[in-house]
This record gives sequence, structure tokens and C-alpha cells, in this order.
Amino acid sequence: METILVTGGAGYIGSITVKELVDKYNVIVVDNLSKGKRELVDKKAIFYEADLTNKENLQEIFKEHNINYVMHFASYKAVGESMSNAVKYSDNLIGTINLLNAMVKYNVPKIIFSSSASVYGMPNKKIIDEQTELNPINYYGFTKQEAEKIIEYYHKIHNLQYISFRYFNVAGDVLNYIDPEANNIFPIIMEVIQGKRDKLTIFGNDCPTPDGTCVRDYIHVSDLIDAHIKALKVDYNGVINLGTGKGYSVIELVNAFTELIKPFKYEFGERREGDPAFLVASNQKAKDILGWTPKKTLKEMILSTYNAYNSVS
Ligand code: UD1
Repeated sequence: METILVTGGAGYIGSITVKELVDKYNVIVVDNLSKGKRELVDKKAIFYEADLTNKENLQEIFKEHNINYVMHFASYKAVGESMSNAVKYSDNLIGTINLLNAMVKYNVPKIIFSSSASVYGMPNKKIIDEQTELNPINYYGFTKQEAEKIIEYYHKIHNLQYISFRYFNVAGDVLNYIDPEANNIFPIIMEVIQGKRDKLTIFGNDCPTPDGTCVRDYIHVSDLIDAHIKALKVDYNGVINLGTGKGYSVIELVNAFTELIKPFKYEFGERREGDPAFLVASNQKAKDILGWTPKKTLKEMILSTYNAYNSVS
């Protein structure tokens, strides 16, 4: 069996990926457990509690195992926090560089990297393809853009094979990962429904969108992971968007949660600084290169999130 090292394998996306991989690959998980949970890591995987900024530790792991692929999910990802604590978010880059250096040293041929649609910033076109100009407007997005560029150079200089995936809004669940400090809309709505928050504040109703609220491309975590698994066996190097190509406004999301679960309290507030009105992926490249199509609906994202929250409280 081939061996995959998964960074961030105890986190939301990483832990589900590990579960998908363990029957076909030897899986090694490296996670610093800052947000990840040890109990979410499938028992068939080998687990190391380690921080990627500790390069000696990391190199020991590479020395010990004959690794064929790296999936690099580990990252701090709170956009707001990245603008108040650059020191912390620089670890996203330091960790990535340590990982790439270990890969070169131990001849690991291929990496799948978790980038983000935040590299596009506030694009002024509606459907975002990979040629869209990169203009991140927060430090988190900047670290993703820089990591992408560094990986591209390692490809040119060391022939490292890579695919960097630019995630749009990942939602839904499989393993019941609950982040108590989550600040994305799905967890926020769930907390309101469960009475842990008073209400949802919708960031603006005067956006240039059909109902005035911001439109996003929500993609189910299972579809996202499916693309990663396909990417392992695809002979292509470059960046690829991962989204469904379909946008939903905040109001449409509120209505869907209301219909599927129950009504909850919300109000309209000010627009959030740096929030694009409309952010929807062109996923043509993912379809062409990976032979991938997203299958899960918004309803499935909502119900699986609901199940996750219900199962832990
Ligand atoms: C952000 C980042 C993205 C990152 C993602 C997950 C940008 C442009 N996007 O996406 O890179 O991967 O977080 O960390 O930096 N909303 C409300 N009220 C709330 C919360 C959200 O109305 O209380 C709205 C937002 O305006 C937005 C939508 O819900 O339209 C989704 O917001 P959120 O889940 O925070 O994700 P993004 O900001 O789109």
C-alpha cells in the first residue's frame, strides 16, 4: 500500500479525509491539536501530535516512513484573527515551507495543498475562474497565496508534483466535528437554533445581489474530499477551484434552515468589512482535469450539519 501523510488530519476536513483514505492507503496524521480532536482520527491511521513549525520533529516523521503523498490541510483559518495576529498566521507559511523541505529531502513526489478562495479578495467579476487576478485582502488569504507561489517554485526547481485547491465555502459534516469558536455561517446558525446564541446578524441587505444579501458558493465537505482523492492519481500541476458553481444568498440559506429544521431569530446588520457581495466558483477546470462533479445539495449540507450538532449536545 502507498503511504499518505495528512497534516491537519484531526481537523474538520482532514479527519473525514483520513477516514476515506485508511482502507486504501497507510495514513500518517500530523496535527498539533490546536483545533483538531484526537478522537476524530481514524484508529487505522498513525497519529503524531506535532507542530509543522518544529522542523526536526517533522523530518523524523519523514525519515521513519516511506511517504508517497502529502495532503496539507493544517492551517490557522480565522480571517479576522489573521489581521490581529500575523505572528500566529505566519506559522501557516513556516509550516508549509518545513513540509516542502522535508518532502524534497526524503523524495516525496506529490502534495495536495488546501488553498482558499480568499486569494481572490474582492473580485469584481461574478463567476471566478482560476485566471482571476489574485488580490487577498487579509493576512490569512495572503499566506495562502504565498504558499501557492512557493509550492509552484518547488515544482519548477525540485520537480515536486502538486495541486493547490482553492476552496470556496466548505460546509456539511460527516464525523460530527464541532468547533466551539467557529465563526462561519453554518455553525453560527446552528448555535442560534440550539439557543446558544441569541440571533444571527446578517451582514448587510444592500449588496448588489438579487435579495441584497451576500451570495456564496457552499460546497459539501464530502464532495471537496472526493476531489482530493481523485487528485492523487491525476497527472497535473496547478491550481484548481473547488466549488459547486452555484451561489446561495444568506437569505436563501436562512430560508432553507427554517424549512428543514425550524425558524430562528435573525436581524440585518451592517455589511462586514472585506465581504465580497458575490463569490461563486467556476468549477470547469476541476471537472475537466479531475473528472469530478459535486453531488451534494444545500439540503444535505444543512441536514448533516444539524446531525453533527445534535449528536454532541
Ligand atoms: C471566509 C473566507 C474564506 C474562508 C472561510 C472559512 C474570505 C473572503 N473568505 O469565507 O476564505 O475559507 O471564511 O474560514 O476571506 N454571514 C452573515 N452573518 C454572520 C456570518 C456570516 O451574514 O454572522 C454571511 C457573510 O456575509 C457571507 C456568508 O455569510 O456572505 C458566509 O460567511 P462565512 O461563513 O463567514 O464565510 P466567508 O466570509 O464567505
